[in-house]
Amino acid sequence: MTFVIAIDGPAAAGKGTLSRRIAEQYGFHHLDTGLTYRATAKALMDAGLPLDDEAVAETMAREVDLSGLDRAVLSAHAIGEAASKIAVMPAVRRALVEAQRAFALKEPGTVLDGRDIGTVVCPDAAVKLYVTASPEVRAKRRHDEIIAGGGKADYTAIFEDVKKRDGRDMGRADSPLRPAEDAHLLDTSEMSIEAAFQAAKTLVDAALKEKI
Ligand code: DC
Repeated sequence: MTFVIAIDGPAAAGKGTLSRRIAEQYGFHHLDTGLTYRATAKALMDAGLPLDDEAVAETMAREVDLSGLDRAVLSAHAIGEAASKIAVMPAVRRALVEAQRAFALKEPGTVLDGRDIGTVVCPDAAVKLYVTASPEVRAKRRHDEIIAGGGKADYTAIFEDVKKRDGRDMGRADSPLRPAEDAHLLDTSEMSIEAAFQAAKTLVDAALKEKI
């Protein structure tokens, strides 16, 4: 059986960077499941199709190619907003979860990050992490990231946006964002990415030792 690491948490908590580092450390395959929702939303937008037709959105979701997810293209703010809207639809979730579960089986191991990995997609994952940070810290990180990239950013608008996205992700009926009961909580509000990585590595190492 392959070794699965499930990493969940709200937007901008640092789980993407952490997941990539963990995957690199152990030579595991990594899937940012948010990109699958984003790719579905982008395909609908590009085709001029509505974001509120579940059957149409499901068809698009079934066509998403996991090997062609481009983070740079899909990271646009408008795509994130649209993704969070189509992510409330059960038929879209079913289609994407199927593809995500197939990905999770890759050998020698996989790291999946998202909102419902430990609770729904891979409930038997060997290690589950719930990475979070206060909304203020997450908004500040996103703000600083945009400024560092040469863009313009308004902290208050980003803060409101983070709270709105949390509300949608945590409040939906199907697979809302919440920590799995057996998840390790990692609050990165006052933690560097390096410290978060070391904490995660300690947990993964312990689980790997148990497996052999
Ligand atoms: O992590 P992200 O910002 O790329 O995610 C975009 C949206 O996709 C997010 O608002 C909710 C949705 N999503 C989800 O519902 N389940 C996941 N496993 C990952 C993302």
